[in-house]
Amino acid sequence: MKMNPNQLQQLDPIKKQAEVSATDRGTQYSPLSPPDALTPPSNVKVPYDGLHPYLKLLVDDHNKLKSEMDIFQRVLQELSHNQDVLGKNAKVIDRFFDVFTTEFILHNQQEEKILFPPLAKRFLEIGEHSKSSKPVTPIDILRNEHIEAMQMGAEARCTWKLIQQIIDPSSQTILLGNFLRRSHTLLEMMRLHIFREDDIVFSLAQKHLTPGQLEEMLESSK
Ligand SMILES: [Fe+2]
Ligand SMILES: [Fe+2]
Repeated sequence: MKMNPNQLQQLDPIKKQAEVSATDRGTQYSPLSPPDALTPPSNVKVPYDGLHPYLKLLVDDHNKLKSEMDIFQRVLQELSHNQDVLGKNAKVIDRFFDVFTTEFILHNQQEEKILFPPLAKRFLEIGEHSKSSKPVTPIDILRNEHIEAMQMGAEARCTWKLIQQIIDPSSQTILLGNFLRRSHTLLEMMRLHIFREDDIVFSLAQKHLTPGQLEEMLESSK
């Protein structure tokens, strides 16, 4: 299922884009009011080769995840046609949730522990935040997205387990519909989150953190 950027923005779990406009904040592009999700402007994004090795590691993780997500999405499409929940599709789905609960969650924890605290501090210093009484930085948005994705992932996985235990075909069909909806929502959440990080936040990190800070992050990630 391919979605256009407007649909992606409607799925934004915390709706911060609507709350904090670029005009409010006085900058054209930011993680709080990102540009077109499919065609980011070239002046915002630092290309992969220009990123510090620590940020490259995070992008590499995303690329691995994106391959797993593509495989998962193909199986979801097959499932919506043949409803075969026990055959080879089951193995691919189980594998995706294994990757989700290990690699994706571990990756998020690493970001929250190593990258987010210094970057949040820097965003407050340079004014990369909302003008509300309690300033919202891009990091608040990313943290919330981690939680939302974990929650949606847990719900989708739980529904998947239930489908395999139910024998009644009509109940199974209903559950399968729920599972497909949750899984597609999860994929869109993950894609939007990865886009915000790869195309905007990591570029801002590259521009606004010092080489020493990035080097320390690389050391902490080992
Ligand atoms: Fe993240
Ligand atoms: Fe990430």
